[in-house]
Amino acid sequence: MSDRELLISGNWKMNHTHFDAIQFVQTLAALLRANPLRAGRALSVHPSFTALRSVQTALESDGVPVSLGAQNCHEAEKGAFTGEVSAEMLAKLNVSYVIVGHSERRQLFGETDEAVRAKVDAVCRHSMTPILCVGETLEEREAGQAHAKVSQQLEAALKGRSRAAVADLVVAYEPIWAIGTGLTASSDDAEKMAAHIRNEIEQLSGSEASSSVRVQYGGSVTPESAGELLRCQDVDGLLVGGASLKAESLYEIARAR
Ligand code: PGA
Repeated sequence: MSDRELLISGNWKMNHTHFDAIQFVQTLAALLRANPLRAGRALSVHPSFTALRSVQTALESDGVPVSLGAQNCHEAEKGAFTGEVSAEMLAKLNVSYVIVGHSERRQLFGETDEAVRAKVDAVCRHSMTPILCVGETLEEREAGQAHAKVSQQLEAALKGRSRAAVADLVVAYEPIWAIGTGLTASSDDAEKMAAHIRNEIEQLSGSEASSSVRVQYGGSVTPESAGELLRCQDVDGLLVGGASLKAESLYEIARAR
């Protein structure tokens, strides 16, 4: 465990209507009120676009100590992009974190490294923090290419960026074979990759950026596996899918030690 703030993020994917989302926030708020997280831990929730405004209102009206996040945005400022949502639209809802380059976006929606880079630009332009997702497939891991794949994704998204921008970033290491499969990377593998990511960022942006950047692990995290992962020196939080859909479970993960 490091002295960087740990960020636990719930990625709801395409789940929860805005009604479900409001109930979720009420349950989570009650849990946090009864028993707040210890210092150095932070939470974000990432509803779908249709629930963002409701979740924003629910969080802000009750002063719930949870940041609002989004799952994606378009890279352009505005224009003829039917069905898309811009970074500015998210910023105006007080969104703090935007997941960028999730493997489902890359694999199912053809998001390229170039698009991911442009999305990081858009999120930073509007003073929000990108959660940049990187990670290898099972084939790449078995071929011994996991580290090279992650390096290449980091370089594509971050090379040439200001040191200050990189220092503020969150990188989520999400091995694709662990997402939604019930297979979690061992804490040893998660730690090795998190350390590799930090090294790579040191090469790209210097040691200050690499010691400030937060590295999350994601992929089938549960309340049972969270504690061991959070104890890893270079792991600064978790990006949680399935187990974030229930407020009680996300709360337990955020408290795990
Ligand atoms: P999972 O999803 O926890 O359901 O594996 C993680 C993610 O895709 O962010």
